[in-house]
Amino acid sequence: MKKIVISLGGSVLVPSLESNNIRQYVSVLKKVAGECRIFIVVGGGGEARRYIRVARDLGAGEAAADELGIMVTRLNARLLIAGLGDAAYPRVAENYTEACEFAQAKKIVVMGGITPAQTTDAVSAVLAESVGADLLINATSVNGIYSADPKKDAAAVKYEHLTPQELLAIITGSRMDAGANTVLDIVAGKVIERSGIPLLVLDGRDPENLYRAIAEGVYSGTVVSRESSNPLLP
Ligand code: UTP
Repeated sequence: MKKIVISLGGSVLVPSLESNNIRQYVSVLKKVAGECRIFIVVGGGGEARRYIRVARDLGAGEAAADELGIMVTRLNARLLIAGLGDAAYPRVAENYTEACEFAQAKKIVVMGGITPAQTTDAVSAVLAESVGADLLINATSVNGIYSADPKKDAAAVKYEHLTPQELLAIITGSRMDAGANTVLDIVAGKVIERSGIPLLVLDGRDPENLYRAIAEGVYSGTVVSRESSNPLLP
């Protein structure tokens, strides 16, 4: 059975606590879990950034702010597990060994952040390596990787395909403060390069995009892979 690691941005799963997309994601994840083994890494979104900002205002250092961010990712992960019920392993994996252990129950495995100075992008890339995933999907609030931030630069162009080396070149030079918002963090870029596991970046604001990609191999996003063939097709 295919193994897929999905990095679900906090901003797409829990744009705000009350108006969250958890029900829609639960329905999609339950549908695809019959066809492949699913691992989810949940991000912290705006709530994590709020905690980080307040902690900094109070004089906390970057690592301490990161720890708060990690706690918020795990809170979001808990919410997703609550929504998934029996379909998920009931605990949030707190390291990669645990994630591998939990996977033996043949349920959806959910985790959040792990350690300071990175984001859940890095967690998802290392998790993909640890479980020998066939594919890594990053469901985020943009529909792919652009030459510049499409929310700020109208001239930004979307890449349909990148090699892992091209991705690393784009990432290098990005800032890595707590709560920083870059295309992917550098740890993720390096792990994607060394593992060679294909990455698909897609717009997760509509959960159906995830369903279409996994179930039908149809997507509109950016693929990062050594070969240019569609990694979603058998
Ligand atoms: P996210 O992975 O959610 O960051 O982690 P993000 O890039 O803001 O992602 P979106 O908006 O959810 O898509 C939130 C913060 O938690 C800390 C970092 O400070 C990060 O910015 N964090 C997370 C860590 O320090 N280590 C981790 O392993 C994960």
